Amino acid sequence: MSRRVPSSTPVPPAGLAARIVAWQRDHGRHDLPWQGTREPYRVWLSEVMLQQTQVTTVRDYYARFLLRFPDVQSLAAASLDEVLGLWSGLGYYSRARNLHRCAQAVVTEHGGRFPGDSRTLATLPGIGRSTAAAIAAFCFGERAAILDGNVKRVLTRVLGFDGDLAEAAQERALWALAEALLPDEHVDVYTQALMDLGATVCLTRQPLCLSCPVQAECVARREGRPADFPVKTRRLKRGSRSHALLWLRWREQVLLVQRPGKGVWAGLFSLPEWDRPETLQAVSAGWPGKGEALPVVEHALTHFDWTLRPLRWTLPEKTPAAQLAVIASEAVSPGGPGRWFTLEEAAAMGLPAPVRKLLMG
Ligand code: ADE
Repeated sequence: MSRRVPSSTPVPPAGLAARIVAWQRDHGRHDLPWQGTREPYRVWLSEVMLQQTQVTTVRDYYARFLLRFPDVQSLAAASLDEVLGLWSGLGYYSRARNLHRCAQAVVTEHGGRFPGDSRTLATLPGIGRSTAAAIAAFCFGERAAILDGNVKRVLTRVLGFDGDLAEAAQERALWALAEALLPDEHVDVYTQALMDLGATVCLTRQPLCLSCPVQAECVARREGRPADFPVKTRRLKRGSRSHALLWLRWREQVLLVQRPGKGVWAGLFSLPEWDRPETLQAVSAGWPGKGEALPVVEHALTHFDWTLRPLRWTLPEKTPAAQLAVIASEAVSPGGPGRWFTLEEAAAMGLPAPVRKLLMG
C-alpha cells in the first residue's frame, strides 16, 4: 500500500517516533563535534557545512572554522576572501557566501544573537526550512520537522510515500507527514535520530533493515522495494564542458584571477580559463619561456562534467617588468585582472579544489 497526496490529515503509524527516539539513545551518534552544545552559532555552522557534505569531511573544517571564528561577530567582521579560503575544498561555495552574509545579518539585524525560532531563522541567508528546523530543534527544543535528502529517503520508505517529489504538492504532502510524525517531546533526539538513521542504516543502496527500529512498519521493506523510494522524476540533465587552464609561473609566483561573483566557483581565485586550447596556444606562442601541457583534469560538478586542460607556462626569471605586464594582461583575457601570488599566498586563498590540487600537488 502506498500513499500519494493525502485527502485528509495523514495519520502515520502510532509509536514510530518513540521507537526512533529509543533507537537513537542506544545506537545513534553521540560523539560528533557539534553535539553537546545548544549554542546556535555552532549548531548553525555545522548544519550549513553538513548540507551537502559528509560528516567525515566536515569534522576538520568545522574545527578550523571555530578556531579562526569562535563566534558570529568574528565571522561577520572577516573578509569574504578569508571565509572562502577556509571553505576551500568543501565545495558548493554559495554556502560560504551565504554563511558570511548570514553572520552579518545576525550581527546587524538581530543584535548578534541568532533568532530563537525556526520561522525567523528561515528568513536568514542560506538557512532553508530544514536547516532552520534542525537548529531550532537542537538549540531550543522546538517541534519543527526537518526534511533533507536523507530524511526524505527514510520517511518515504517507512510510509511507502510514492508521490513524485518533483511536484510541489507532493513535497508539501511529505512535509505535512514529517510534521505529523513529530513526537511531543525529545524533538532534538528525534531529529538527530532521523539524520543518523539516514546516514547509517537507511542507506541509498543496500539499506541495513535488520538494524532499523521501524523495520516492522516500513512499507518499502514489506514490499521488498526500498530502491523505489523516494520518487523524483525530474532528473538533472548533466552537460559537459571543456576549457584550457593557464598556469603561468614567474619566479615562484603564479598568476591567478578572481572569478565573477556568480556561477561556478564564484568569488574564488583560479587559473585563467580559456574556451579553446587553440586560442591559448596562439596567444602564448609569442611569450618567452616554455609551455608544457599537463595531464587532463576531469572534474564533476552538480550540473556538468568539466574537462580541464592545464597548460603550464614558465616565464624566464629575467623577463622585463614591462613585458611581464603585457603577458599578464594577455594571459587573463577575457577575464581579469590577474594578480601574482606566491604558492604560500595562493594556498591561503579560496581556491577550487582541483586547482589547489594542481598547484600544490
Ligand atoms: N547531517 C545534517 N545535520 C547533521 C547532524 N547534525 N549530524 C549528523 N549529520 C548531519
